[in-house]
Amino acid sequence: LHSTSRRQRQMCIRDSKYVMKRIMTGLVGIVLLISIIVIAVTAEGDKRIENDGSESQEKLVTIGFSQVGAESDWRTANSIYIKQTFTPERGYDLLFEDAKQKQSNQIMAIRRFIQQEVDYIVFSPVVESGWDTVLEEAKRAGIPVIVIDRKVSVRDTGLYTAWIGSNFYLEGQKACKVLNHYVEENQIPEVNIVNIQGTLGATSQIGRTNALEDAADKYGWNLLAQESGEYTEAKAYEVMTKMLKEYEDINFVYCENDNEAFGAIDAIRDAGKTVGPGGDIQIISFDATQEGLRRMRNGEILIDAECNPEHGYYVEKVMEQIEDKELLQKEWNVPEEVFANIPENYEIMLGGKRYTIQAITEDIVKQREY
Ligand code: AHR
Repeated sequence: LHSTSRRQRQMCIRDSKYVMKRIMTGLVGIVLLISIIVIAVTAEGDKRIENDGSESQEKLVTIGFSQVGAESDWRTANSIYIKQTFTPERGYDLLFEDAKQKQSNQIMAIRRFIQQEVDYIVFSPVVESGWDTVLEEAKRAGIPVIVIDRKVSVRDTGLYTAWIGSNFYLEGQKACKVLNHYVEENQIPEVNIVNIQGTLGATSQIGRTNALEDAADKYGWNLLAQESGEYTEAKAYEVMTKMLKEYEDINFVYCENDNEAFGAIDAIRDAGKTVGPGGDIQIISFDATQEGLRRMRNGEILIDAECNPEHGYYVEKVMEQIEDKELLQKEWNVPEEVFANIPENYEIMLGGKRYTIQAITEDIVKQREY
């Protein structure tokens, strides 16, 4: 009896091993089959049939981008952020066109993008006016237009889908408020300020210049002269040299970007004057690029209001909204800070909002990416 039940147990074990083996073989088969189906479906999805019947890979989203030029460190950073966002690996084909600061080049580029039937047109307009006709052409072609950095002034705002950029007037207001704080703290009897403007007619120039003019009225500053430095170092050097010859008592220069500040500093030194703490002339600037902040740390620049060039992320957000047919946000302001050559951070109030003015440190300079 004992040996019979042992045999039965052995048979039973053999039977269950056999059943397990069959189940495992079945499972492996099913897994293999599923994998083959998934690979086949994915590969098929990556292909599309062209008109000529040939197969190609999944279509990339084509973006025609017209950049103003390469006039400043800020502009170079802005181009880099756009190129880093819209790569083939991320599903984009970016057609990048440099307009070399000419509106006519931008209009030609936009017309080429329309002919190429791109999916989106993105551009940073050199000036605000003169865009109605070409944007009507883009609208007729059914191509969404996303404007970045400076704005367009058009009869019908439906000619573009969205705008992404800075509040340039607010940047100027912040810089002027910090300047007034400095003047009061240091009991400076008279402010004799000159303004090296950006490209005339660009939104950034209009906003920053208006903020200075309003502040000069409000605080009683003497705004001695205004002239465009075209956002470049070379032109700003030329303009500053001329202003120094005309006015002996300049104690502040309001440059509308960092590159103009670099040109103005060179001109001041070449004229035998000094900048920085205890010096003859103090510099106010915009952009807060790494070089701008490094010069602030060296004492050459007193105030630098940031202009945030990282627009790529927001352009992609707008495109997602267009794809999802969501309710669109038309205007997108990028976040920005203000830096000053001061011992400690402090806060200012503007339009009921609180802003921190950051004391420049070595860490801030090092962490700056552009
Ligand atoms: O429109 C933004 C301005 O244009 C930046 O301040 C300047 O550096 C650039 O060229």
